[in-house]
Amino acid sequence: MSSVIPYGRQDINAADIATVLEVLQSDFLTQGPAIERFENAICQITGARYAVALSSATAGLHLACLALDVGVGDWVWTSPNTFVASANCARYCGANVDFIDIEPDTGNINLAVLTEKLALAAQNGCLPKLLIPVHFSGRSCEMQALDQLAKQYSFVVLEDAAHAIGASYQGTPVGACQYSRASVFSFHPVKIVTTGEGGVITTNDEALYQRLLRLRSHGISRDPQQMTRESDGAWYYQQLELGFNYRMTDIQAALGCSQLQRLSEFIARRRALVARYRTALAELPIQLPRADADNESAWHLFVVRVPAAKRKTIFDFLRSENIAVNVHYIPVYLQPYYQAFGFTTGYCMASEAYYQQAITLPLYPALTDAQQDQIIELIKSMI
Ligand SMILES: Cc1ncc(COP(=O)(O)O)c(C=O)c1O
Repeated sequence: MSSVIPYGRQDINAADIATVLEVLQSDFLTQGPAIERFENAICQITGARYAVALSSATAGLHLACLALDVGVGDWVWTSPNTFVASANCARYCGANVDFIDIEPDTGNINLAVLTEKLALAAQNGCLPKLLIPVHFSGRSCEMQALDQLAKQYSFVVLEDAAHAIGASYQGTPVGACQYSRASVFSFHPVKIVTTGEGGVITTNDEALYQRLLRLRSHGISRDPQQMTRESDGAWYYQQLELGFNYRMTDIQAALGCSQLQRLSEFIARRRALVARYRTALAELPIQLPRADADNESAWHLFVVRVPAAKRKTIFDFLRSENIAVNVHYIPVYLQPYYQAFGFTTGYCMASEAYYQQAITLPLYPALTDAQQDQIIELIKSMI
């Protein structure tokens, strides 16, 4: 029996391992110099002024919501076509969550739907405080248009860029925060680069950055400027608000630094594999994701749409052949936790149709052409 081909996986080389070993033999396993190195590398890649490394993107979304003063009674809007963390972060802060339906060819939130919903919310006095657009599969949302709406209706934009390190929009790297207050990336092993678990927030807002640093470490500050009274001595610190331990370790950060050196290589391989899928699947009755020159996806996921009636059969067949395809995503509001807030089937029809048709095909740098050909042949034999 051949071994299983997953839908995504990390690519760890000897340099990554050597870098991690070096940290293990150093003085700092956490709160050491690798964190700043990693944050600087993220700033260089994205062009953002500040970066805050964290234990996960979920922690990043939570802290960003807190630092943006999202709280009880506020509304946070996001995409239903995402992992639950994009919505849960608002719930951690006690805010209400609502969902904007998607455009089927990108899986990102639909601007026309958003525009209409905002006009209605303005009439009803329930505009969102925060919008969390999700760059589904690594393709940026239409950030310039979202920014215009944000200005018109006075809400803040926080990019869920968990899938999108290495992507660019209008020629600018995702994470530059040109049209948003902050962006959050994930470094889970199936993502573009990995730190095991890990995440980062990028921003150009210094006050937000300082607040995020504090919230990452229990709400504690050692900066005399931030203290409420004179310091007792060099050991002294103050807890100024309720924060968390959401720190990334130096072990993770060092792995991240090493991985980031291969970011362009990873993205190039992903793009080459996507091009091969596109050519091979072009003649089949399968809908392929949209690609545009000024919106370069990082291609975290390659999601194709097949007729809904055949999806489960195709999925089960590929799984039986050791191709570990997946489905991204079950619309978040169909989760029992969110249904308890009154969301029912039919709330976002395009997201539900997408969910019924979607199959995520294997895509990761170490996937060989031969393995991809095997996947393509199996799909062709079914459709
Ligand atoms: C869109 C999106 N947002 C947030 C997250 C949370 O990332 P993490 O696993 O790093 O907490 C994920 C993880 O899969 C994701 O896909």
